[in-house]
Amino acid sequence: MKQLSTVYDCNILPLNKIHNRAGNITIVEGDDNIPFTTKRIYYLYDIPGGGKRGGHAHKQLFQLIVAASGSFDVLLDDGANKKIVTLNRPDYGLLIVPGIWRELFEFSSGSVCLVLASEKYDEADYLRKYNEFKAWKYKK
Ligand code: TYD
Repeated sequence: MKQLSTVYDCNILPLNKIHNRAGNITIVEGDDNIPFTTKRIYYLYDIPGGGKRGGHAHKQLFQLIVAASGSFDVLLDDGANKKIVTLNRPDYGLLIVPGIWRELFEFSSGSVCLVLASEKYDEADYLRKYNEFKAWKYKK
């Protein structure tokens, strides 16, 4: 049987932080401190109050999700287990491995969700329906 990814593979990873009186800087360079090399960066912002994002899974993609500003919650679901993670620090990232359904919600006003991704955008990598995700996950 194939090894299925679980929500317990999705961990908060500490990032570096250089701080001084002029402010802080966090750097993610290549695959230092994260288990993939970033091919794409995108960020969500101007999210309306009560807004929800995500609502899909990926077949191959690894992502690191960072609350670059403000805070939000991430629901992770591997088809059997769920967990909710609150992100509110720019020097920590949530690793999401392939095969995990995710939903993002409870965005604070002005928050920015920065996403580092292991691959370029590919719509064929998305599982956008929960039933489709479950069927893909548990196929032999
Ligand atoms: P989607 O991944 O569904 O957003 P979220 O998970 O944040 O709710 O993408 C929203 C739209 O943006 C969708 O039409 C696809 C497009 N998009 C790209 O063209 N390239 C990208 O890298 C991403 C992440 C999305």
